[in-house]
Amino acid sequence: MRSSVIAAALLLVLGSCLLHGADAGGGYGPKPKSCFFTSIFSFGNSYADTGNFVRLAAPIIPVIPFNNLPYGETFFHNATGRASNGRIILDFIAKGFGLPFVPPSLDKTKNFSKGANFAVVGATALDLAYFMENNITSVPPFNTSFSVQVRWFEQLKPSLCKTAKECDDYLNKSLFLMGEFGGNDYVFLLAANKTLEQTKTFVPAVVKAITDNVERLIKLGAKRIVVPGNLPTGCIPIMLTLYASPNKADYDKNGCLDKFNGLARYHNTLLQDAVRALRMKYPGIKIAYADYFRPVVEFLKMPTNFGFDGRTALVACCGAGGKYNYNVTAACGLPGATACADPSKAVNWDGIHLTEAAYEDIADRWLRGPFAEPPILSLAH
Ligand SMILES: *[C@@H]1O[C@H](CO)[C@@H](O)[C@H](O)[C@H]1NC(C)=O
Ligand SMILES: *[C@@H]1O[C@H](CO)[C@@H](O)[C@H](O)[C@H]1NC(C)=O
Ligand SMILES: *[C@@H]1O[C@H](CO)[C@@H](O)[C@H](O)[C@H]1NC(C)=O
Ligand SMILES: *[C@@H]1O[C@H](CO)[C@@H](O)[C@H](O)[C@H]1NC(C)=O
Ligand SMILES: *[C@@H]1O[C@H](CO)[C@@H](O)[C@H](O)[C@H]1NC(C)=O
Ligand SMILES: *[C@@H]1O[C@H](CO)[C@@H](O)[C@H](O)[C@H]1NC(C)=O
Ligand SMILES: *[C@@H]1O[C@H](CO)[C@@H](O)[C@H](O)[C@H]1NC(C)=O
Repeated sequence: MRSSVIAAALLLVLGSCLLHGADAGGGYGPKPKSCFFTSIFSFGNSYADTGNFVRLAAPIIPVIPFNNLPYGETFFHNATGRASNGRIILDFIAKGFGLPFVPPSLDKTKNFSKGANFAVVGATALDLAYFMENNITSVPPFNTSFSVQVRWFEQLKPSLCKTAKECDDYLNKSLFLMGEFGGNDYVFLLAANKTLEQTKTFVPAVVKAITDNVERLIKLGAKRIVVPGNLPTGCIPIMLTLYASPNKADYDKNGCLDKFNGLARYHNTLLQDAVRALRMKYPGIKIAYADYFRPVVEFLKMPTNFGFDGRTALVACCGAGGKYNYNVTAACGLPGATACADPSKAVNWDGIHLTEAAYEDIADRWLRGPFAEPPILSLAH
């Protein structure tokens, strides 16, 4: 039911632009006349990376799991640096607007006139220096935080448009996707043995880092912006494995660890307040909040409604065994791990990231609602 019903619904909403995008398959089709956006700029972490981390880390890390099959097996039939079996939300949003795949900014062979993706696996909202000052050494030494990615955009901008008028026109037809950010900040704080209560005290700083960088991009010319919140981290196999509890009361009715979902909910509440404040401050700028939390909880609550296998909704498709099929020493892409037979029936791909099927559903409901406020399609006029 998933694809056909949603494709029909999209057709009604957007007419030829999304129809064309849907037909384009690989996303490389010519740009239909009716499409509003002419470029997409994306920032974020492994939920949005399309090949930056593998380029950045190749000289340093000998084996990068995301560089190996079965990553990419479903759509690209090879690893692309995306942390999924196929396409991610960014790919489906580009497709919806009839735009090509957004190239990773570190692939210097690419032409970025239709957009660039600055997202990097492991990226945080807070700067590396902030973690170092707070003696949090669990953060990998890659200097790729949101502010660094914004600097990369700033450096690219002169190649995209020259005069103020030209930049206004060009960026007025650009979609800016900002994340998510924050999930990694909390994972690294918890890995540094901060308690949940201590970790919560960092939420206002994380949210401020996100809004500060959104404001920097507005000052650089961004006019149509999507700010995603955090996933329900208590439902993710890596967290369910690393923080397994003998106490049943620690789990909610979907089998998720309540306390981590509480942290994500708190982050999302503060972030939504901050987005509302930005809309007041910049009335000419369109800013949507995109919800990652509710769609994932829905998948777990009613898996079969979305084409997922209800028996394995909390289990990673690709892994090396264990209750949630997640083992940190034999992660997906490393020897010992294998993928499930039918990833289209799984919500979670590798213990952390989602499958192409899950991303496609979320992207559709960010585009036309109800999981983006306002729906991303409404930013396109
Ligand atoms: C598949 O991806 C790997 C790693 O990214 C690359 O080295 C290889 O050339 C690719 N193979 C094909 C057939 O594209
Ligand atoms: C990139 O592509 C655009 C058209 O899509 C073209 O106008 C521009 O010259 C190209 N830039 C470079 C550096 O090749
Ligand atoms: C990260 O890179 C930025 C420049 O993009 C630099 O200003 C900053 O000092 C770097 N941080 C660390 C901790 O190396
Ligand atoms: C970090 O560690 C150093 C050396 O152990 C200490 O002097 C400093 O007060 C610590 N800073 C914080 C913010 O905990
Ligand atoms: C941006 O686009 C909108 C809608 O097409 C238009 O009304 C507005 O004047 C444009 N603004 C700029 C700065 O180009
Ligand atoms: C966290 O605690 C564990 C167990 O007590 C310990 O092995 C580990 O080294 C600690 N990690 C940090 C970053 O302090
Ligand atoms: C995780 O994988 C390692 C290496 O393959 C293996 O030795 C270990 O027993 C596995 N752990 C669990 C809990 O399955």
